[in-house]
Amino acid sequence: MREYIEHIELLKKKRNAIIFAHNYQPPEIQDVADFIGDSLDLSRKAMQIDAEVIVFCGVYFMAETANILSPEKIILLPDIYAGCQLADTITVEALREKKKEYPDAAVVCYVNSPAAVKAESDVCCTSANALAVVNSVRDFKKIIFVPDKNLGSYVASKTNKEITLWDGCCPAHNDITPEQVEKLKEGHPHAVFIAHPECRPSVLALADEILGTSGMLKFAKKTSADEVIVGTEVGMVYRLQKENPEKKFIEIKGAICKDMKVITLDKVEKSLKDLEPRVVVSEEIRVKAARAVNKMIEISG
Ligand code: 13P
Repeated sequence: MREYIEHIELLKKKRNAIIFAHNYQPPEIQDVADFIGDSLDLSRKAMQIDAEVIVFCGVYFMAETANILSPEKIILLPDIYAGCQLADTITVEALREKKKEYPDAAVVCYVNSPAAVKAESDVCCTSANALAVVNSVRDFKKIIFVPDKNLGSYVASKTNKEITLWDGCCPAHNDITPEQVEKLKEGHPHAVFIAHPECRPSVLALADEILGTSGMLKFAKKTSADEVIVGTEVGMVYRLQKENPEKKFIEIKGAICKDMKVITLDKVEKSLKDLEPRVVVSEEIRVKAARAVNKMIEISG
């Protein structure tokens, strides 16, 4: 392991590269990263950072978003098969059909989606800004929200816009059950429960706070609770625990995104050595998708 880390450090300098890791990445990848964040932080950082190469330790749509915003940089995804089951629930063709059904609706597209779907949308959002984005769509009362039905229904409960949902979800979040949460609450009666809005409504109903991963980090720092049950992908627990060693963070067993876990140190090293595999969105799609992503960044700052 040490050998990989040393070699990665050398290659990073040689390539003028920077390593990004999403909050759900395995511990050893988070530890080697220059920057760890949620999907919004990572998108913004991709634009701002002064580097020729970004090694994106995350999943495909995240690397695509970095390429959409920073086409001049080389975006490496150490395992090109790190996909997203939620993003796979939608295609641009299916979205076009839905738009025909609702011609007077705007499309708000969660960042967990293919670039071509972003290109067909009015504005993009992440879990950190979904409500603000939906409310910012001034000229439309109706919104088609794609592809996460749980995030969409959470937003629908907080806005007076008419929201049409897409039937997509993230299995790692959607498979968390209220029974699992109740059981953990019984075992930790003083714990607070924080949940990601990709969880199903019956789980969100049990939450003390509903937060994206960056919101969870802020909450963890300021809460007076000693124990926190973490309703999201287990990788998050590593970062929460590392940054708040005096508190106890309790994971939900089985809340694992397998795609996030295919990134390994040897693949990071190899990608820096070979400058492959690269993620490149076709220019026609990239320009259109950039409009939707930049609009989100303008809204959320
Ligand atoms: P964040 O928006 O907090 O990064 O969550 C993203 C996510 O759940 C990826 O599936």
